[in-house]
Amino acid sequence: MSSAASLPAPRCLPFGPEAIAEATRAILDGQCVAVPTETVYGLAADATDAGAVAGIYAAKGRPSFNPLIVHLPDQAAAEALARFDAHARRLAEAFWPGPLTLVLPLREGAGIASLVTAGLSSVALRVPAHRAMHALLAATGKPLAAPSANASGGISPTRAAHVVASLGARIPLVIDDGATERGLESTILACTDGTVRLLRPGPIAAEQVAAILGAMPGGAGEGIEAPGQLASHYAPGKPVRLDVIEAEPDEWMIGFGATGGDDTLSATGDLTEAAARLFDCLHRADAASKPRIAVAPVPRHGLGAAINDRLARAAV
Ligand code: TXA
Ligand code: MG
Repeated sequence: MSSAASLPAPRCLPFGPEAIAEATRAILDGQCVAVPTETVYGLAADATDAGAVAGIYAAKGRPSFNPLIVHLPDQAAAEALARFDAHARRLAEAFWPGPLTLVLPLREGAGIASLVTAGLSSVALRVPAHRAMHALLAATGKPLAAPSANASGGISPTRAAHVVASLGARIPLVIDDGATERGLESTILACTDGTVRLLRPGPIAAEQVAAILGAMPGGAGEGIEAPGQLASHYAPGKPVRLDVIEAEPDEWMIGFGATGGDDTLSATGDLTEAAARLFDCLHRADAASKPRIAVAPVPRHGLGAAINDRLARAAV
């Protein structure tokens, strides 16, 4: 990977009408842009556009697909995408807008790209407290998926200059609104099974959560699930064989490039398209009547690293 200093700079505009207009055009055009939140700068793309979300992973050079947080303007918009239980509703009312992310059951037909949730049936939602992210949410009218705006393995950016140094011209635009207030990624709580579990500690402390719920969230002290190390990754319920050129008769074949099949990640061999289609292809293979799944070889460069990482986990 080229060093940051050698990367040409993206456009960096101060927060204001011009920055929001340009960022909105880029988002609606399927690109991703860096935008501050109260926690860290995020790399935002339209969460309903699988190709745009694949672009986030390409820009970050992430070697695996972690599920991403979807940012929304208010709780009503969040309720349209996911199911809130009583705990979740009290937490949202207490801490939104703010540095709290809730992992909730995804509503069927919510329209969120499966690459955002890494194929899971849950989704991470957050209503941030920052004028720039809110202006972008309002102007685009889209739910915005956004991980921290740094290259994979790098430190989360709390200033526009950090984003420029880490991502350079791999992204078209950075909205600069100064240093972020919190400087630490949001607290993540899961409310998917009637309990409340702390998945990632952050600016909202477990004690603050306990003050709302009357009990400490689970998970704390019992080994917190580290981001990116989720045991709950989606995996098909049947055997998966990788790097296959010719499928057996009882295998549902997922092709790539010139290697065809029952389905394809990308007929043209495009890795961004393959990333965007990956989880949908796995779900279709799972639902197919054939008892096994075969997948064509996918190159390991660029986004191919993350695709192969995910395929290897699916094949375990
Ligand atoms: O403060 C923040 O949360 C920042 C700003 C930009 O909003 N965003 C951020 O995103 O930190 P990211 O991608 O670095 O962290 C997302 C984490 C994943 O690593 C994973 O741990 C968790 O959110 N996550 C997302 N969806 C999940 C799901 N369905 N189940 C469990 N965990 C999930
Ligand atoms: Mg991060």
